[in-house]
Amino acid sequence: MAEHSNGRPPVALVTGATSGIGRAVALDLARDGFEVIVHGRDPGRGAATVKEIEDKGGHARFVAADLADADAVTALAAEAGEVEVLVNNGGISWFGPSADLDTETFDHLFDSNVRAAYQLVAALAPGMAKRGHGSIISVDSMAGHIGLAGGAAYGATKAALTAMTRAWAAEFSPSGVRVNTVAPGPVFTAESKRELIESLATTTLLDRGAQPQEISEVIAFLASDKASYITGVVIPVDGGRTAV
Ligand SMILES: NC(=O)c1ccc[n+]([C@@H]2O[C@H](COP(=O)([O-])OP(=O)(O)OC[C@H]3O[C@@H](n4cnc5c(N)ncnc54)[C@H](OP(=O)(O)O)[C@@H]3O)[C@@H](O)[C@H]2O)c1
Repeated sequence: MAEHSNGRPPVALVTGATSGIGRAVALDLARDGFEVIVHGRDPGRGAATVKEIEDKGGHARFVAADLADADAVTALAAEAGEVEVLVNNGGISWFGPSADLDTETFDHLFDSNVRAAYQLVAALAPGMAKRGHGSIISVDSMAGHIGLAGGAAYGATKAALTAMTRAWAAEFSPSGVRVNTVAPGPVFTAESKRELIESLATTTLLDRGAQPQEISEVIAFLASDKASYITGVVIPVDGGRTAV
């Protein structure tokens, strides 16, 4: 169980925690003793996640912010304050012919998936470094490591997260902050993506898609002291998809 030296639970900020993988991460970190800042946009889903955590005896609060809005992300970091764990999970995907992606959507992908994570780390990691401990985990994707037709821009946002993770490890780990990335394969989250996930699932060695908790448990491990000697890595959680 996570414990703070001042007796209060340590705080974990999980972006995109109102559904899917982020929601599972929020529940796991609350179980592990963190006070969780549940971030997202939808207040209804935010309240539902907070309630589920509280019903299980955990502590959480919802903070809304649009990750594509730089000022809103600055405000989110200020609202979060001193955090022990930051999980950069929130984001969007886009798959389709490259010629069909307009520049506005391209920018939206990079603003939500890359710039927001950069802003949060820039705002929160120096405090962790000053305190001498902290853990930052970003959610990459197998799309950042293999060529998926139609996934050029999305894959580039995810590869960027992993590149930043290595640089952040070089910058902050000498001060005791661990910085890592998890790269999931296909995960059954939003119902609208079921067909895509099912077709990608058949390309994995395990021949199936993952449930969100199969990803969140790895993130919870990286957030914990059990991973005390792990920094600067990308852990594929993809049913073996990128192994072959
Ligand atoms: N599912 C997969 O197969 C898969 C595979 C590899 C990697 N990933 C990555 O894992 C992460 C989570 O994916 P998921 O499938 O769990 O997604 P999801 O179920 O669609 O949930 C996305 C979450 O991100 C939040 N979000 C999205 N855009 C946002 C924005 N502009 N501002 C604020 N919040 C925003 C949503 O909040 P609201 O709904 O409240 O707005 C929601 O909580 C993403 O980074 C995704 O790229 C997913």
